[in-house]
Formats: sequence, C-alpha cells, structure tokens
Amino acid sequence: MISLSCEGMSASDAYKLLTGSVVPRPIAWISTQSDDKIVNVAPFSSFNYVAHSPPMLAVNITLTDSGGIKDTARNIRDTGEFVVNIATRATLDVMHESSAEYSGDVSEAEELGIALVPGQQVSVPRLAVSPIQMECKLSQIVPLGTGVNTLYIGEVVMFHLSRDIYNGRHIDSVAMDPIARLGGPFYAALGEIFSRKRP
Ligand SMILES: Cc1cc2nc3c(=O)[nH]c(=O)nc-3n(C[C@H](O)[C@H](O)[C@H](O)COP(=O)(O)O)c2cc1C
Repeated sequence: MISLSCEGMSASDAYKLLTGSVVPRPIAWISTQSDDKIVNVAPFSSFNYVAHSPPMLAVNITLTDSGGIKDTARNIRDTGEFVVNIATRATLDVMHESSAEYSGDVSEAEELGIALVPGQQVSVPRLAVSPIQMECKLSQIVPLGTGVNTLYIGEVVMFHLSRDIYNGRHIDSVAMDPIARLGGPFYAALGEIFSRKRP
C-alpha cells in the first residue's frame, strides 16, 4: 500500500484522491434562477441524497478558480430554490458543455438550447430532457473546512418522473440510463447489475 497522511496535503492532491476514490458519483444537473430571472444550468457530482423523511439532497459547491462564488451557489442563496435534474447518457454532451464558466448574466439554457418546463412548487424551471426532476427548497447551508467547499442541503418538495422510466411504483434504472462521474475527465454508464436477497 502507499499510505498518505493528509497533514500538509494540498487541496488539489486531496481533490484528486477523493474524486478518484469516491466513484462512480451520481450527477446532479442543477437548474437555478437569479433574482433577474436568468436561468442557470450546471452539473455537480459531489452530490447525493442524504435523508428521506423528508427527502433531502445535498450538493457541495466549491468556489471558482478565481475564488468567486459560482452562479448556482449564488442563486440558491438568493432564492432558496433549485431543481436537481438527473443526467443521462442522452444528455451527456450538453450536460458537460453546461459546466463551462459562463458569466452570470448568460443563461446556459439559452446558450445551449436546453428546453425548460416551469417548476410547480418552485419558481425555478426544470430541464425537459431529464427523466427525473426534483424541485428543492433550501434547507441548510453548511460551510466546510477552509471555506473552499460549501454544502447546500435542499428538501425535495416535488418529484417529476417520466413515464418512460417510472411505472408508478418502480424506477427503471436501465431505461433511465444515468451517467456517473469518475476521476479526471472520465464518465461511466451502468454496467452489469447484480442483486442479493436481504440477509
Ligand atoms: C460532471 C461534472 C461534475 C462537477 N461537479 C462539481 C461539484 O460537485 N462541485 C462543484 O463546485 N463543481 C462541479 N463541477 C464544475 C461546475 O459544473 C462548474 O464550475 C460550473 O461552471 C458551475 O457553473 P455555475 O457558475 O453556473 O454554477 C462539475 C463539472 C462537471 C462536468
């Protein structure tokens, strides 16, 4: 084994080790809206569900390379609302493109031609092309460590599920064809699927 103490480890080395170790990571393709009603879209893989009573999702948003706040984080703080859209293989390229640093007054949705549908319990639009869209209201903001990372925890107030992947009881993961993030520039799709009876 190669054993590495985290004392004195640089943030970029820690990032590489974490994003290579914690794989595959689900991708939240998040839509938000600024106070000026500009719709922002960007992907985040430091993401998971963290509670189910009520349902809650958490996403860690870092500062930009120049130390500023990302549009998604600013919009969540300003409006208290966001939508987590699940990224699939069909939307890989446009999702990836939406991670580019657009200026705050530019809507990735408009620039990239991403079709929107209105939110029902939040004023933030959902991404029409995503088979699962979860409307969230901000629950907690948790600053982490040295301030580079902040955890945004949202309560899901409404799920929207495409009939193509949901029969009213179960979500069909294979039909959904989600994509995940690995370390570096790599993505993955679902591979072989196993099951086990509950012990
Ligand atoms: C697949 C993928 C996952 C990403 N995950 C994160 C993440 O978890 N946290 C983060 O701060 N940035 C993440 N990024 C980078 C953001 O998408 C990027 O900084 C984006 O420009 C933020 O947009 P915004 O300023 O419009 O919010 C990820 C990028 C990609 C392509």
